Amino acid sequence: MSDSSTPIIVHGATGRMGSRVVALAALDPSVRVVGAAVAPDSPRIGGESGAPAVALQTAENLSKTGVLARVVIDFSSDEGASAAADLAVALRAALLVGTTGLSDGTRQRLRDAARSVAVVVAPNTSMGVAVVAMLARDAARALGPAFECSIVEAHHSRKKDAPSGTALRLAGAVRAAGHALRDDQIVAIRGGDVIGEHTVRFAGPGEYIEITHRATTRDLFALGALRAAKWLDGKPAGEYTIEDALGLSA
Ligand SMILES: NC(=O)c1ccc[n+]([C@@H]2O[C@H](COP(=O)([O-])OP(=O)(O)OC[C@H]3O[C@@H](n4cnc5c(N)ncnc54)[C@H](OP(=O)(O)O)[C@@H]3O)[C@@H](O)[C@H]2O)c1
Repeated sequence: MSDSSTPIIVHGATGRMGSRVVALAALDPSVRVVGAAVAPDSPRIGGESGAPAVALQTAENLSKTGVLARVVIDFSSDEGASAAADLAVALRAALLVGTTGLSDGTRQRLRDAARSVAVVVAPNTSMGVAVVAMLARDAARALGPAFECSIVEAHHSRKKDAPSGTALRLAGAVRAAGHALRDDQIVAIRGGDVIGEHTVRFAGPGEYIEITHRATTRDLFALGALRAAKWLDGKPAGEYTIEDALGLSA
């Protein structure tokens, strides 16, 4: 572990995503976990986080102790993402929010935070999904209104939001290309242990095109989050995109 490694706080550290961020950070010498947060009412406060010598705490406690973190990574809940924003601002750390299903109030809180720290809000931190969004945008532009667009996504049954943040992001890419994708053509399926599947379909006269992304391990999102966190380290205040952070912006 080098002294120049990026000190990070993982907010939502006991979750499916947060625990993988903690585990994979331990294998990456360019980052180190200096804080791990859970919900204020979690029975696990004070317990082990999985990172050496880092106990689970609340965001409020971490902000009071003034731990020296340069990036906060959040994979929690709507309420949690707002608490992560407060923490990042209090510590003057950059913020990567991977949490999906954010309310308008939380989105506003994140925009406010971006006035004092660097912020990326990324409903999907995978490089592959970022590329699918670019392909979908280009396909929508090239095919025009003669092709009808639909998006079908599948996830495990414990997922709280539907349609997924990723499906909405893909819809945004198609619409940004001038395509009138209808809300009722964005379909969510829940069941089993599916980590995440998204298909953007363009159906025209006599042919159709499907662009599909399938996640085979949650680690890809955790690795993308760590990569984005390293990119955020030292960036001036402002709102950035996951494409910026993954080096995919034109
Ligand atoms: N961006 C991406 O690429 C990506 C990929 C996968 C998932 N996600 C999203 O990431 C989020 C988390 O998913 P998950 O599957 O990891 O969920 P999960 O397993 O339910 O974990 C949620 C974590 O957040 C904590 N938490 C809940 N409310 C909190 C609060 N108010 N303050 C602080 N911590 C809080 C929980 O802690 P305790 O319960 O122990 O208190 C737990 O550690 C979801 O929104 C999901 O859709 C994003």
